[in-house]
Amino acid sequence: PGRPPDAHRYGRGVPDAPVPELFGQEFATDPYPAYAWLREHAPVRRTTLPSGVEAWLVTRYADARQALADPRLSKNPVHHADGARGKSKTGIPGERSAGLMTHLLNIDPPDHTRLRRLVSKAFTPRRVAAFAPRVQELTDHLIDGFAGRGSADLIHEFAFPLPIYAICDLLGIPREDQDDLRDWAGMMIRHGTGPRGGVARAVKKIRGYLAQLIHKKRLGDGDDLVSALIRASDHGEQLTEEEVVAMCFVLLFAGFETTINLIGNGTHALLRHPGQRAALQGALARGEHRLLETGVEELLRFDGPVEMATWRYATEALEIGGTAVAEGDPVLVVLAAADRDPARFDGPGALDLARRDNKHLGYGHGIHYCLGAPLARLEGQTALATLLTRLPDLRLAVDPGELRWRGGLIMRGLRTLPVEFTPR
Ligand code: HEM
Repeated sequence: PGRPPDAHRYGRGVPDAPVPELFGQEFATDPYPAYAWLREHAPVRRTTLPSGVEAWLVTRYADARQALADPRLSKNPVHHADGARGKSKTGIPGERSAGLMTHLLNIDPPDHTRLRRLVSKAFTPRRVAAFAPRVQELTDHLIDGFAGRGSADLIHEFAFPLPIYAICDLLGIPREDQDDLRDWAGMMIRHGTGPRGGVARAVKKIRGYLAQLIHKKRLGDGDDLVSALIRASDHGEQLTEEEVVAMCFVLLFAGFETTINLIGNGTHALLRHPGQRAALQGALARGEHRLLETGVEELLRFDGPVEMATWRYATEALEIGGTAVAEGDPVLVVLAAADRDPARFDGPGALDLARRDNKHLGYGHGIHYCLGAPLARLEGQTALATLLTRLPDLRLAVDPGELRWRGGLIMRGLRTLPVEFTPR
């Protein structure tokens, strides 16, 4: 009992502790003990996922970082050896049926290099910095909605709407259409509990909407991100209409649930660590922003939104951390496990907002490093600083044990975050 059936694969003896259960409710609530076990006993482990697909889970920091940057590990699902060739595994539901497969998260160089270079010309750090006042305005507006009440569900009333309105604004989606986008996006992330057909319909609606929007924007000379994507060119090359649609879709999607979870998981971690939270509130009151900046990075490391980086497929036989991986095998890099590796981080289980040596993998690593990181940082910092400043006695309204986490494979986040505070 307790012996993993495939212990021989690791060549490191039989671990004493029982094999932890992966993907159950307990794991969804707190996956970190299971990750510690994997890092220690089976750092590259072949695992059957809830979908029935077999994949390698990579949990040590050094292996994870190397795997994320290994050109032999492709993002393109055509390299998957099982019967599901060509089936998307990005976690974006319905993208294949809607013809949205040609985007950054599904492709390798040289196509990836071309697309990323073009997109980076439009989605620049400068554009994001100029957007800061609007993010502040949105944040304040959402808090105004519940500040007088003394209680709120921070997921539904704050973390959920903020990223979708922000990215809609940045893309140049007219305000009157943004509630539709919000509802469709909501249908997509509720797919864990809702009907799959609803997801496919939502994706189709978003696709149809974006195609029309892009068609209209092509005729104008707007200075929004969609118009900039249409105009972006590099050595005479431009994005095709299809590529602009897929790009806008992935910007909407990749930046949506992730940022919800940054705000949700981040607020939750602060509420559970009163000393750290008080230090941050003190720094904010003194107008010092350094702790906010290092703090948001630390929250990403400590309990980041992306639990496992999206899929990769071995294009040839290779070794990861001394374990043989066959051509065509899927590999999942477990960012949440790597970012708590004691071989890389001092006291990895402690939340230390002032942590300096913090090269976490929360935004990935290598050529697919998160394109939206500057926007995510802006939203995360603005949201947390404004919440703590405007509602200084913010506290959980339920026992932490009652909080329910989404048991996803790719994302880690709360279903609800009920809080209380003195009404203002
Ligand atoms: C890629 C995390 C927010 C757009 C990635 C990857 C990670 C990540 C881990 C790499 C995936 C891989 O290597 O397989 C996050 C986190 C966010 C966040 C934790 C929030 C806290 C955003 C936002 C946007 C965005 C706001 C855009 C609006 C993208 C895009 C890629 C990406 C387009 C693909 C880049 C490529 O393949 O070249 N993100 N992301 N992300 N992210 Fe983010």
